[in-house]
Amino acid sequence: MADLSVRLASHDAVLCVTSLFADDAKLGRSLPLLSRDERARFDAYTNAVVARRFAVGRSALREIIGGALGMAPTCIPLREGLHGKPALGRGAGGRGLWFSIAHTEDVMLVALSRSFDVGIDLERSRSIEQWERVADRVLATGERAQLQHAVEAGEDAGTAFLRHWCRVEAELKAIGCGIAGLEDHRAGKRPLGLRIVDLKDVPFPDEAMSNGARYQAALALCSPGVDSARQSALASTQAVAPTIEPAKASTA
Ligand SMILES: CC(C)(COP(=O)(O)OP(=O)(O)OC[C@H]1O[C@@H](n2cnc3c(N)ncnc32)[C@H](O)[C@@H]1OP(=O)(O)O)[C@@H](O)C(=O)NCCC(=O)NCCS
Repeated sequence: MADLSVRLASHDAVLCVTSLFADDAKLGRSLPLLSRDERARFDAYTNAVVARRFAVGRSALREIIGGALGMAPTCIPLREGLHGKPALGRGAGGRGLWFSIAHTEDVMLVALSRSFDVGIDLERSRSIEQWERVADRVLATGERAQLQHAVEAGEDAGTAFLRHWCRVEAELKAIGCGIAGLEDHRAGKRPLGLRIVDLKDVPFPDEAMSNGARYQAALALCSPGVDSARQSALASTQAVAPTIEPAKASTA
């Protein structure tokens, strides 16, 4: 993790992939890194597997951010924004760093940037029941048409839907509004300077690739602090492909 600050300086965004598989030893190393609130959240989970994943994921996030800022993991001030987006709180020395988290089962992806607000989403490929109805509800008209085209061209419907869904979720997470921003998205409102990329060849841990598992993932970048500064998609999106490390990315 020592070179993370160097990698951040030379890329628009850096991705970190973490296994959330937690045996007792790993859990034991993770718990002391949690804040009091995080420990309370861990204690409140009734599902032990989910609790372990949370503890391991949150401690890994603290170590990653600590590596980026040169701070001890336990000293990272984390706060939650209005709609639940985690962010750096006061006490991080005013050092601009934006990040976003996504997890599915035993895998967590963290995206970090020194220059852009970021949002990331990750889904394990699977079939989606009644994908057409779900897509009608959550995708904008152009996205829905693209999805239909992909399926008619022979792509698996679940995979194609989840690729589009990851792009939407990544955008909503970059803005910080989460699912509450879905209607604005469908109405074509986009944050300033929005760029979205599909993430290819993410170096997932071996155990996450067992049984032929495949994943869809997307990353969104936008100007920081633009929650209220949305504009039309045409004017704002995809001007320049972002540089991302280490995953290959393609413009969505
Ligand atoms: C919470 C939400 C941001 C994403 O949830 P998700 O896809 O279930 O879970 P992910 O693993 O991708 O992301 C969870 C992380 O997002 C982050 N997050 C939560 N609220 C956020 C917000 N408003 N903005 C950005 N990030 C947020 C948190 O870091 C959370 O991790 P944590 O709980 O360990 O702290 C929100 O968009 C949501 O509820 N989505 C609904 C998902 C859905 O309906 N899917 C159906 C279509 S297949």
